[in-house]
Amino acid sequence: MKILAIESSCDETCAAVVCDGRRVLSNIVASQVKTHALYGGVVPEIASRAHSEAISGVTIKALEAAGCLLSDIDAVAVTNTPGLIGALLVGVNFAKSLAYGIGKPLIPVHHIKGHIAANYAHFNGENGKNFLEPPFTALVVSGGHTSLINVHSYTDLSVIGATRDDAAGESFDKVARILGLPYPGGAKMDAAAKNGNKNAYFFPEAKVKNSPYDFSFSGLKTSAVNLIHNAEQKGEKININDIAASFTSAVVNSISSRIELFFSENKSASSNKLVLAGGVAANSHLRSALQNLCDKYSVDFFVPPLNLCGDNAVMIGCQGYYEYISKNRSDFFDLSLNAYATSEF
Ligand code: KG4
Ligand code: ZN
Repeated sequence: MKILAIESSCDETCAAVVCDGRRVLSNIVASQVKTHALYGGVVPEIASRAHSEAISGVTIKALEAAGCLLSDIDAVAVTNTPGLIGALLVGVNFAKSLAYGIGKPLIPVHHIKGHIAANYAHFNGENGKNFLEPPFTALVVSGGHTSLINVHSYTDLSVIGATRDDAAGESFDKVARILGLPYPGGAKMDAAAKNGNKNAYFFPEAKVKNSPYDFSFSGLKTSAVNLIHNAEQKGEKININDIAASFTSAVVNSISSRIELFFSENKSASSNKLVLAGGVAANSHLRSALQNLCDKYSVDFFVPPLNLCGDNAVMIGCQGYYEYISKNRSDFFDLSLNAYATSEF
């Protein structure tokens, strides 16, 4: 079954064709990074306009790269939540019109479920790779989310812990910005941290009372921002690489300590497999810390290649397939689908 998938929840306009939820036939991403870099962050109104301009071209390219005609497509999948509402609406309305035009089902996909499903495209049992299937535990770390999730089945998920304030990616971006690193700062922090001393500065790790699996990055972020501003006011020189290394180490430790607690307290089929997903899954320090932890607890570790960590439509096509076979889809010509800025699973 060939699904044409559309993703436009933030600042990348994406289209892909995915076969049977596992085989990637094409993966096109039009990034708006250069536009938003002028402002140091995503400007929602500009993102919506840029999606409107790019979405038709990106979709045509995805069909061409897959060697498909529209008549070969069996269903259209689209991210309808969570994300920037104006940005989501562009993708939802485009996908709705397309599905109506070709007379095929429309499948709404939750963005976070999609991030997790990026792993299905990579761990698809081909070329010596494992075939990943639920149950497992997923850790989604992105610009908007940091959540530990129990994936009971392809479509039934429940949250074990989540951030109480900022997401990890958001805190990386903010500290990078204060350090003068260009937007988006996460990948720049990753690179700078490789050349710094992680013990040069101390940043406190926050615990959430009575919720050991919840995360909190706001205090950590503020302490880094204060340290940089204080140094500036006193005319002291700061070492960007050392701050990046110390901050990254604090974020990674804060995440790993929760995962270690989870491994030591839970022994079940789903806790034998840890699946990392989301933009921050590209972070080299986080990937290696979690790999080491999984080795220590004999847990199988899964993480997508870098091009499937950030936003893409392949992940929407993968999850879309499983939503389709679970009958979570609009019936033919049902045009009631809407977009939602926030939502639970
Ligand atoms: O998943 P994503 O593309 O968008 C959301 O759904 O939020 O995640 C984007 C986030 C940004 O905060 C970006 O700075 C961060 O992922 N990011 C990284 C790295 N690459 C991207 N953070 C840390 N290290 C990286 N290598
Ligand atoms: Zn995302």
